[in-house]
Amino acid sequence: MKEQLEAIRKSALESIAGTQAGADLEALRVKYLGKKGELTAVLKQMGSLSAELRPVMGQMANEVRASVEKAIETQSAILAEKAMEAKLDMETVDVTIPGKAVKLGHKHPMYLALDEIKDIFVGMGFTVLDGPEVELAELNFDRLNAEEGHPSRDWSDTFYFDEDSRVMLRSQTSPMQVRAMDSMPLPIRIIAPGRVYRKDEVDATHSPMFHQVEGMAIDKGITMADLKGTLNTVVKQLYGENTVTRFRPHHFPFTEPSCEMDVQCHKCGGVGCPTCKGEGWIELLGAGMIHPRVLEMAGIDPEVYSGWAFGMGLERTAMRRFKIADLRLIFENDVRFLEQF
Ligand code: PHE
Repeated sequence: MKEQLEAIRKSALESIAGTQAGADLEALRVKYLGKKGELTAVLKQMGSLSAELRPVMGQMANEVRASVEKAIETQSAILAEKAMEAKLDMETVDVTIPGKAVKLGHKHPMYLALDEIKDIFVGMGFTVLDGPEVELAELNFDRLNAEEGHPSRDWSDTFYFDEDSRVMLRSQTSPMQVRAMDSMPLPIRIIAPGRVYRKDEVDATHSPMFHQVEGMAIDKGITMADLKGTLNTVVKQLYGENTVTRFRPHHFPFTEPSCEMDVQCHKCGGVGCPTCKGEGWIELLGAGMIHPRVLEMAGIDPEVYSGWAFGMGLERTAMRRFKIADLRLIFENDVRFLEQF
């Protein structure tokens, strides 16, 4: 029995010292000291020993148990320390390594221009609205007095989603006029910026996706003078006090009378140059007095209320604001271009 106990001690201490993980250590504890362990098995044979030998063997068994327990404890501490060292090694931060420069982006010039526009209108008491780019043809056309057969409804100009031309990518932000009239109490003063879509080929002045800012005011006694006054105030704040504008008659189905507003070319002062294609003027927006039928369709009495609306091309406005010559630069997102603003 003495040899048995010695053998257990020897093999236990060796295997404990060789463990690499806490789980292995626990397995060894069970193997040697557990209820069905090797040491217990030896102790069970004690009954067959003589009365003199029994206490001697008992004491020896206790010593073996104590030394195995001690070894497990020591090894456990060693493993814990090793684990901690490994963890610290992995998490070492070398504070002397030069840092990576974090490049901070900034707003796109078109959105810088939009922010200025929003600020100007909010300062005049307008609310900024957001609306869907996927729009009902009913709101994009019918409710804006553009009947079936109107050229702008053609499949060659418009991105429709379905065969019967009911759902489309909005071709203008003007359906936001209808959405505002349907959902807001009078009087209404809103602007609504956002993307619009038309089947155009890309060139220096065209893109199948571009941005507009819609504007609308409805109240009692609103006239064309309010429209001109508001727009002149806006362009002067945007482009400078000396900005010269002109209003030309035009046609839109949803305004009557309708007009387009031009600003005098900033390059040549109206004489004519390549920037304004020799015209002396640059077209900025379409506008007009809201057609009585459009008000009626929204349940607003045109005998009591009147209003104006405009739709302005945001790319064009930003191009003039920052003197950008080619529309494609706005969409290419070349950092060398964007960094200049
Ligand atoms: N929606 C028109 C366009 O896209 C612009 C416009 C808006 C004209 C509001 C008049 C009133 O050309």
